[in-house]
Amino acid sequence: MKNPYMIRMNVIEDCIDYTNVGGLAHYDFYHPVEGIQKDEMDCMHFSVPETKDVGYHEHSWGCETFFISQGRMECCVLGRRFYMCPGDLLHIQPYMGHSFKPAAPDTKLNILFQTMDMANTTASRLFMQQNFPGVFESPETQKVLDVHYGRIPRTFPAGGYVPEEEVRELRRDGEGLITHTCDLTTLQLKVGRWETHGEKEIWALCMKKGAYAKWQKNRPEYHMFYVTGGKVAFNVWEAHDKTVEFTAESQSLIRIPPYRPFSFEALEDARMYDLDCGALLQDLLEEINTLKIQDPDKLSDSRFMKNLYERFSFFYTDFNIIP
Ligand SMILES: [Fe+2]
Repeated sequence: MKNPYMIRMNVIEDCIDYTNVGGLAHYDFYHPVEGIQKDEMDCMHFSVPETKDVGYHEHSWGCETFFISQGRMECCVLGRRFYMCPGDLLHIQPYMGHSFKPAAPDTKLNILFQTMDMANTTASRLFMQQNFPGVFESPETQKVLDVHYGRIPRTFPAGGYVPEEEVRELRRDGEGLITHTCDLTTLQLKVGRWETHGEKEIWALCMKKGAYAKWQKNRPEYHMFYVTGGKVAFNVWEAHDKTVEFTAESQSLIRIPPYRPFSFEALEDARMYDLDCGALLQDLLEEINTLKIQDPDKLSDSRFMKNLYERFSFFYTDFNIIP
């Protein structure tokens, strides 16, 4: 039986949809949720580099966050060409030209969407291709769809390659915009709230065995995690007296729907993205750093700290993942 909370990204049967046309496979993991159409994710799997390119284009709304899980991708962003490797993350905002060309066999490009509604775009394409052959591919239809989905086709830039470290939109493996370290976890801010229309932050959690967090409150938001290394145990409360327990391994997505308390714990050294961090975690960690220097006694004042956590929408009820 399918685990309702976890998708093993390399297992076709776990996906909500899978198509493979001409050597380009699409794995659909999740459709969007909530008013801002967040937490939608899929994967493009290019079996050979010659399969197909994603042409240079930009969007007039939404965000796209790209992860390479295997292979190598030649990217072009804002006119600069560079390579993206497994473990790297690339975050694209509106009016930023971007394109992708696989540069190694079996390259997998995982894409997290915000306010893009890719599921409807794909459904429309499939409907037209199945029922009105040739219509979808016609320039007239493409023009209409570009307007409808806020997509702006662009001429491929003539610019050359630049060193990866010059591309600010590329967040390389092991690096964060800002890094915070505590005993059992290193937190790397991968995408700031200022880059997601204020909706969320994306963090990489490098956890040692025993790092854990528990969210015991019933709240209306979705949560989504992406495990990229090690093993992480999850518990999801489906009722006051019923929990579902499972272990997520590398290349697993976990999505917790609203009103289900949950917890996670690293069973061994593990790496995991929080793809949808609703807390203002960067702000909270700044406040904690200031307290450490200016008023360290406050850190053991549980009432004061509880108020501080709530002020920054950090609703975990028990944890050792932050200082
Ligand atoms: Fe795009």
